[in-house]
Amino acid sequence: MDASPHPEIYSTDLSTYTSLTIHGLGSSDENPAEITLLRSESFPAPRSLEDVVSLPRDENWAPLSLPKDGAHLELELTDSISEGRIGLAYSVRVINDSANLNLPDLCIKLVKPEFGRTLAREAWFYEQLAREQGYEGVVTPRCFGFFTVPLKDCLDVEGRPVSHINPWENITIHPEPDPDWADKREDTLWWLPDDPPSYQEYYDDSDGWKSGSPWNKWRSSPSDPLICVLVLEKLGKFYICENIRPGGGKQEDHEELELDDMRDLVRDVTSTGVVHGDLRFRNVVRATRDVVCPRHERAHRWRLIDFDTATRIRITPENPEDFRYAMKSSVWTIGQPYFWGW
Ligand SMILES: Nc1ncnc2c1ncn2[C@@H]1O[C@H](COP(=O)(O)OP(=O)(O)O)[C@@H](O)[C@H]1O
Ligand SMILES: [Mg+2]
Repeated sequence: MDASPHPEIYSTDLSTYTSLTIHGLGSSDENPAEITLLRSESFPAPRSLEDVVSLPRDENWAPLSLPKDGAHLELELTDSISEGRIGLAYSVRVINDSANLNLPDLCIKLVKPEFGRTLAREAWFYEQLAREQGYEGVVTPRCFGFFTVPLKDCLDVEGRPVSHINPWENITIHPEPDPDWADKREDTLWWLPDDPPSYQEYYDDSDGWKSGSPWNKWRSSPSDPLICVLVLEKLGKFYICENIRPGGGKQEDHEELELDDMRDLVRDVTSTGVVHGDLRFRNVVRATRDVVCPRHERAHRWRLIDFDTATRIRITPENPEDFRYAMKSSVWTIGQPYFWGW
């Protein structure tokens, strides 16, 4: 891989682009518009913990500094891929890439208006994984950055305000509320795992990474929506196995092989301290390139996506229980009823 201008990350993916223009995303009442977004800072999580042990500050927890005078990427929305709880995934075509990278197929994850803060958090997990060699692009899709723009700053070619964001026109606002939160009022659906006041004992933000972020107090505003986009490598279909039997019957050998590869992916991710938190078949998608995993010495057949409800532990000899618990519970989830969405 090329040397990164960011010494703290391993590939150029996250450090190349400063701005992004998307065609086909929105329009004024009269004309289509090209919408330009700027690179935005990610939103760090607090440390998640089982062991209540205080640890020295870890500077690697910081959001990545924004690339300065970076390249510009111009994309056009093509097809809708899928809608999730917070996001709408679209295939895109590259119209222009001022960095002239040898880009893979790309897609964007645009969030529904209330989930900008959530996508800023997901962006932080991609950054965290890019700080260690052999994760971003190996166990996850490659990630080319997190970009935002207030809708009120977007104009069409004649200077008229953009009034429609096409993917937002027909969205299901809350297709699958988290069962644990279903009894809560709707206005807490944007909460991150570390937001509920009753969960504060499981998190430590004494270093202030979360509370010091401008995203912490950000709230969506129907009168001033923020367009937030993550640019990702486009992968294949999510995992669905024909042998799924409600109630969990005996599974075929082939399926066990696939699930074993997913367990390896989960071991990889968790070994960085990132705990995915939403391991379901829809969040495991088919790899489209063979990239040898340095830990397994073979290419994984799958990639993990959707880190918006992930958490992060610190792995040190002082708090062994955090790692033990995270690894055991994450690997165990693969193939369990939650994984199949039962
Ligand atoms: N990089 C990608 N490549 C291919 N498909 C993707 C990609 N990212 C998302 N998708 C598709 O879009 C769906 C929703 O994306 P996801 O990140 O899971 O959003 P949400 O957080 O809303 O669940 C996924 O289940 C998957 O089908
Ligand atoms: Mg999802």
